[in-house]
Amino acid sequence: MSEIIAIANQKGGVGKTTTAVNLAASLAVAEKKVLLIDADPQANATTNLGIHRNSFEYNIYHAFIGSKKLSEVILDTNLPHLHLVPSNIGLVGIEKELHDKKIEHRELILKGLIAEIENRYDYIIIDSPPALGTTTVNILSAANSLIIPIQCEFFALEGLAQLLNTVKIVQKTINPKLRIRGFLPTMYSTQNNLSKQVFLDLKRHFVDRLFKNSEEGISKDETSSYIVIPRNVRLAESPSFGKPVILYDAKSPGSIAYQELAYCLLKEPNV
Ligand SMILES: Nc1ncnc2c1ncn2[C@@H]1O[C@H](COP(=O)(O)OP(=O)(O)O)[C@@H](O)[C@H]1O
Ligand SMILES: [Mg+2]
Repeated sequence: MSEIIAIANQKGGVGKTTTAVNLAASLAVAEKKVLLIDADPQANATTNLGIHRNSFEYNIYHAFIGSKKLSEVILDTNLPHLHLVPSNIGLVGIEKELHDKKIEHRELILKGLIAEIENRYDYIIIDSPPALGTTTVNILSAANSLIIPIQCEFFALEGLAQLLNTVKIVQKTINPKLRIRGFLPTMYSTQNNLSKQVFLDLKRHFVDRLFKNSEEGISKDETSSYIVIPRNVRLAESPSFGKPVILYDAKSPGSIAYQELAYCLLKEPNV
């Protein structure tokens, strides 16, 4: 059995793709067999791994519409243990297409696709689009774990109730196995009081949903017992080199934080 982790939040720019790519890479470096599924038409996870849109013919769209199996669209990456299901802007119309064709149980397509390759991987990590539509419901239906990145900025918790409500509905109707693994504070800046405020708010409401750090974290402030992704320029730079941060600057604070997250998941599997 593999752990299937959805990285979701309907807000854009909160660190979903950065988390999906770098968590996947950190687990792969720890010699786990990992499949990263890019399910966002923006295809940022695909390009962040240095895979150019002209270098592959088929992508997740073809699997969604049933013209390819998932195994037929899987690509190798720079890391031997990390495979990728790429995405492409062509995925943008998928929700309307599935709706127009009146496909039955269209929220369960991804689950069916994953079932066929699941036993090849220890971890399957799915990057989501910034929306709560059919694609995200497919992702939540296929996953057994959910990580919600929360950007430590203005309005961080806005929209969270809506996401949690969608999660509850999915749990009650199609996927009782879905478990919220945790909220992951991202782009945390020690220089910024607002960051601190968002973290403290999150801690006040959801302390049980934060990832605990096994060792004291890098920072010696109120975040030190929790896994918090710092705002770190190395994380923002590494995609332009087509690499996860662990292959770009493994000792940077951003890379260390994602390795801590990977370690936390390895220590306490959810399968
Ligand atoms: N911890 C971080 N520190 C610095 N920049 C970051 C961090 N996390 C993400 N970014 C940058 O912020 C932008 C949005 O992040 P991204 O992961 O693409 O968000 P999403 O997938 O939720 O839209 C990207 O340019 C990314 O490189
Ligand atoms: Mg993204």
